[in-house]
Amino acid sequence: MNRVELDPALRPRSLGEYVGQNRLKEKLSISLQAAKARGEPLDHTLIFGPPGLGKTTLAYVIANELGVGIRVTSGPAIEKPGDLAAILTNSLEDRDVLFIDEIHRLGRLAEEHLYPAMEDFKLDIVLGQGPAARTLELPVPRFTLIGATTRPGLITGPMRSRFGIIEHLEFYGAEELASGLLRVAELLGFRLDPEAALEIGQRSRGTMRIARRWARRVRDYAEVHGDGGVTLEITRAALDHLGIDPLGLDERDLRLLHTIVHHFAGGPVGLDTLATALSEDPDTIEEVQEPFLIQLGLLQRTSRGRVATQGAYQHLGLPVPSLDQV
Ligand code: ADE
Repeated sequence: MNRVELDPALRPRSLGEYVGQNRLKEKLSISLQAAKARGEPLDHTLIFGPPGLGKTTLAYVIANELGVGIRVTSGPAIEKPGDLAAILTNSLEDRDVLFIDEIHRLGRLAEEHLYPAMEDFKLDIVLGQGPAARTLELPVPRFTLIGATTRPGLITGPMRSRFGIIEHLEFYGAEELASGLLRVAELLGFRLDPEAALEIGQRSRGTMRIARRWARRVRDYAEVHGDGGVTLEITRAALDHLGIDPLGLDERDLRLLHTIVHHFAGGPVGLDTLATALSEDPDTIEEVQEPFLIQLGLLQRTSRGRVATQGAYQHLGLPVPSLDQV
C-alpha cells in the first residue's frame, strides 16, 4: 500500500519548507495548530488541482506537522469495502493521516462505507447474506482523511460534504519553482545558479514535478557538456535540446495548438474529436495539457469546444486572425 518514494529526503517536511501556496498554508497552519492543541485529528481535508503540484507532498507535510503517521493509498486500490476495512482497522493509529490519492476513483460501495468511518469513526460490516445478515459495528481509530484529486467534478456530493477543509493547489510562479529547485540543489550538493533556476522555473508549466524533472535533465547535460555547474547558458541549451520552448510548452502542447489551428480552423473543436486527431487520451488532454494552456491564455474551453486564442497564433508565429474570425 505504501508507495515507494523516489527521493523522500528531498521532500519538504514542514509548511515552512513547502514553497508557494501561501494562502493555503496560512489557512492550514491555523487548523493544524488548533487540532494539535486540542489533541484531535485534523478535519478531513480534500486537496484538488492539476497533477504535479505537490498534493502528495502536502499530505506528508501535514502528517509531519501534526506529529502523526501517514498511510498512503489510492482510489483504484480500494475497490471493495473489505479493502477499506483492512486499511482502517489494521494500520492506523490514533490521529494518523490516511491519504487517498485519486479519491474520485474509489469503488462505490467502499465509498459508502467510508462515510460512517469519516463521521463517527466506525465501520458497518455486514456479516452473512439475506434475512440472516447482521451488521457489525467496528470502531476505527480517529483519523484524518486527506483526499487528493485532479477531478473535483467527479467527487460525489455526499463525499464532498464530509470534508471540513477543501483546498485548491495553484500553479507555481517561476520564482517559487526556482526557490524549490535551489533547495534541492543544495541538498544534493550541485551548483545551480539562481538565473538558471529561474529559467527552469519559467519553462516548467507552473508545476513542481516538471521543474524537478527538468533540473535533473539540465544537470545531466551540464555534466556531459560542461563542468557540472548549472549555468544559465547550459540551462538554455539543455532545455532547447529537450524541445521545451520558452513558455515551457513541449512538442505535444505545440502539436495540440497546431492541430486546432490547421485542422480545425482555430476551433471550436470538441474534446473527443481533438483527441482522435491527436491520437491522445481525452482525459490526459483535459487534465494534464489543457489547464496550463488555458492559464497561459493560449486556449479557451467554450460550450462549442476548444478554441485557439489570438495568443496561440502569436506564440506559434502565425498571422493572427481578426477577432471576428476567432
Ligand atoms: N515538492 C512538491 N511540491 C513542493 C513544494 N510546494 N515545495 C517544495 N517542494 C515541493
